[in-house]
Amino acid sequence: MKLKIAKLPGDGIGPEVVEQAVKAVDAVCRHFGHEAEYKFGLVGACAIDAYGDPYPEETHSLCMDSDAVLFGAVGDPRYDNDPTAPVRPEQGLLAIRKKLGLYANLRPVETFSSLVDKSPLKKELVDGADFLCIRELTGGMYFGEKGRKDNGDTAFDTCIYSRFEVERILRLAFEYAGRRRKHLTVVDKANVLESSRLWRQIARELEPEYPDIQVDYMFVDNAAMQLIRCPKFFDVLVTENTFGDILTDEASCISGSMGLLASASVGTHTSLFEPIHGSYPQAAGKDIANPVAAILSAAMMFEYAFGLMEEGAAIRRAVATSLEKGYVTEDLAAGAASHSTSEVGDWIANQIENNHE
Ligand code: IPM
Ligand code: MN
Repeated sequence: MKLKIAKLPGDGIGPEVVEQAVKAVDAVCRHFGHEAEYKFGLVGACAIDAYGDPYPEETHSLCMDSDAVLFGAVGDPRYDNDPTAPVRPEQGLLAIRKKLGLYANLRPVETFSSLVDKSPLKKELVDGADFLCIRELTGGMYFGEKGRKDNGDTAFDTCIYSRFEVERILRLAFEYAGRRRKHLTVVDKANVLESSRLWRQIARELEPEYPDIQVDYMFVDNAAMQLIRCPKFFDVLVTENTFGDILTDEASCISGSMGLLASASVGTHTSLFEPIHGSYPQAAGKDIANPVAAILSAAMMFEYAFGLMEEGAAIRRAVATSLEKGYVTEDLAAGAASHSTSEVGDWIANQIENNHE
């Protein structure tokens, strides 16, 4: 199969970790007889520097013409403490989500038995936890009307959702639950927010169409607690954009490191695959960042964008072996010898190509 991949490494550690994902993709292609063609695009702070625009038109047409987008991270400390900056790198990510219609962000949370003691939570709580967070990605406060009033002294962001937006993400969540353990948790704040009451109303309406799915409803504050109190309760969790942003960062500590979690954003046009971690500027260029989240995002790309499940599984097996053997970056080494970003990337690529059972 020919795979047309848009490569958007972005800022900070993005380029280093995407390079390792590319090594894994190339190893899979050699092993399974596929052909990957990469086209590079600028996004984030590096695109602002070059074009004054964090998601230039050129990058957008490249994404539209590709079968999948491999994304690194965006963000730059130059913008973080400057609330007056007219453009920000993060707007590049929001623009790409909106323009590609990526309304669903799938963030699987898995635990690796070799790493359960790396989690800040008790081993018996996390061992075996395995759930999928589905975050709505193109609505809510992120995209609702925002602005300033009273000479700039009052600010507002609006959480707005239409029936259409809520129904399509809920249906997707019901479907994913159907393919998993058939348990869906709808997370909202329906005791306070009108937008949440619309979510809950629509979810209740859809329930009879999916009779084999057990649905429960949880307020977001309670969900934040249950995620770390009892992560094994969850199978599929669906929620709106802002709640999903917060809960998935929280959920990442269940696995032991932010550097392990991958994500897929899917919707109307080309799907996008990215690690859930950010640009981690303190580590940029040092060859120390954990590439596993980016490599697992490439596994999701094979599975979700190309339906190549065996290929995705080959990457997952190689990653699991690297973790079992302790061939890891310093965030996971806990005092033991650690390896660089590129060494881990090479090791995993070699494992995929040469030791694939
Ligand atoms: C994420 C990130 C983004 C978000 C930022 C970089 C805009 O935190 O993908 O979770 O808030 O959605
Ligand atoms: Mn986030």
